[in-house]
Amino acid sequence: MIETIPNLMPQIRDRFAHVDTCPFTGERIFFENAGGALTLKSVVDTSAKFAAIPDNQGRDNAASHALVDIIKTAKSDAADLFGVTGGQFFVGESGTELLFRVIRSAAMGAQDGGNIVGSTFEHPASRSAALHWAQHSDRPYLSVAHHNETGLVTADDYAAVVDAKTRVATILHSSPVTGMGVDVAAISAAIRAVAPECFIIVDGIQNAAHGAIDIESYDIDGYVVSPYKMFSRHGYGFAWVSDRLTALSHEQLLNGPKEAWEFGTRDTGSYATMSDVVSYLDWLGGHFSTSTDRRERLVTAGHAILAHETELTNAMIHGIGNLKGLAQIDGVEIIGGIDNPKRKGLVSFRIQGRPSSDIVTALNDRGIRTHTRKADHYSGGILNPLGWSDCVRVSVCHYNTLDEIRAFLTAMQDITA
Ligand SMILES: Cc1ncc(COP(=O)(O)O)c(C=O)c1O
Repeated sequence: MIETIPNLMPQIRDRFAHVDTCPFTGERIFFENAGGALTLKSVVDTSAKFAAIPDNQGRDNAASHALVDIIKTAKSDAADLFGVTGGQFFVGESGTELLFRVIRSAAMGAQDGGNIVGSTFEHPASRSAALHWAQHSDRPYLSVAHHNETGLVTADDYAAVVDAKTRVATILHSSPVTGMGVDVAAISAAIRAVAPECFIIVDGIQNAAHGAIDIESYDIDGYVVSPYKMFSRHGYGFAWVSDRLTALSHEQLLNGPKEAWEFGTRDTGSYATMSDVVSYLDWLGGHFSTSTDRRERLVTAGHAILAHETELTNAMIHGIGNLKGLAQIDGVEIIGGIDNPKRKGLVSFRIQGRPSSDIVTALNDRGIRTHTRKADHYSGGILNPLGWSDCVRVSVCHYNTLDEIRAFLTAMQDITA
């Protein structure tokens, strides 16, 4: 029988740590997934296991060989999850650090002259890196403006700004402030139509937990994620780079292998936890697909995840039964509009005349964890053009339930009564 996510919910939730209780505050509903998704219990076990192993990679002993094999397996697991056969994966300090490094490598290695293109839609991680390295590689930075009404940027917007001399371009896959996901393949095609040799780097950090990823179809050179936002844990970032980006001169150890991106001794446990994420999503996808191909099962899992999240955010916006949705509450405004087909598991809203932090506190008092986004250096790029000083961000994942949305809407009714 083909399952549904709600039917599988007890089994899904059982696989995650702290699913309904916080170790610091007790029982709570977790709608702060954009700040960090729940961690798989398998990831917790794997992390403890590898933290205790003293051996290093690259030695001629059985333990060392085992560690090298585990890293190799994790990279091949990631290739299935991210939908790519060429290029390579490597780990770094964080998603932000990897975006800086990959963008720096592209900016410093690309042919002289020309320009670097990015968008106001982006998180400061990629935008700051592109602006910094545009300046240091002596090229103008051209900015593509996003749309306030839809909380998005499109391929046409990029097409209007790129030119034949665009050497590097950056794209944000999904925004942690508006909640919308862009069409990466269309934006990349628009860039390559005029600048075929451009190095295209994508920030996939917010997007990674919210549906299938298919790097091969994007025709890009870099894709970066933060594993703690995709059911693994804190402490490292994970990047994919194309072979043509690797072929550029990039920072390496003197006389080391030219294709290497790793810096220093790797945490085998970090790689092993990516295998745990793939195993989990494969298990999930196996309930929606009879395919014998793992990639197909992973893609199916991604589609099921996004469909369930859409049901949750629709319920949050339009209500359930007698419970009013956010759109029916007086004074509520939602970033990107009410019915936005590009929404991926996240609703940011404000209530006119009420500080968002008060609403977040009132929700916290009722056991519901959300987050205030302020017009600061993280979210100002989205909030300032709207003239908003702040918003409440409610971010879900596929392990959240309609009952939790009911509890949220009941709390909102109370808070706004
Ligand atoms: C889209 C996006 N980019 C970059 C970051 C920064 O990620 P990290 O703090 O893991 O480096 C985040 C964090 O939430 C994000 O959502």
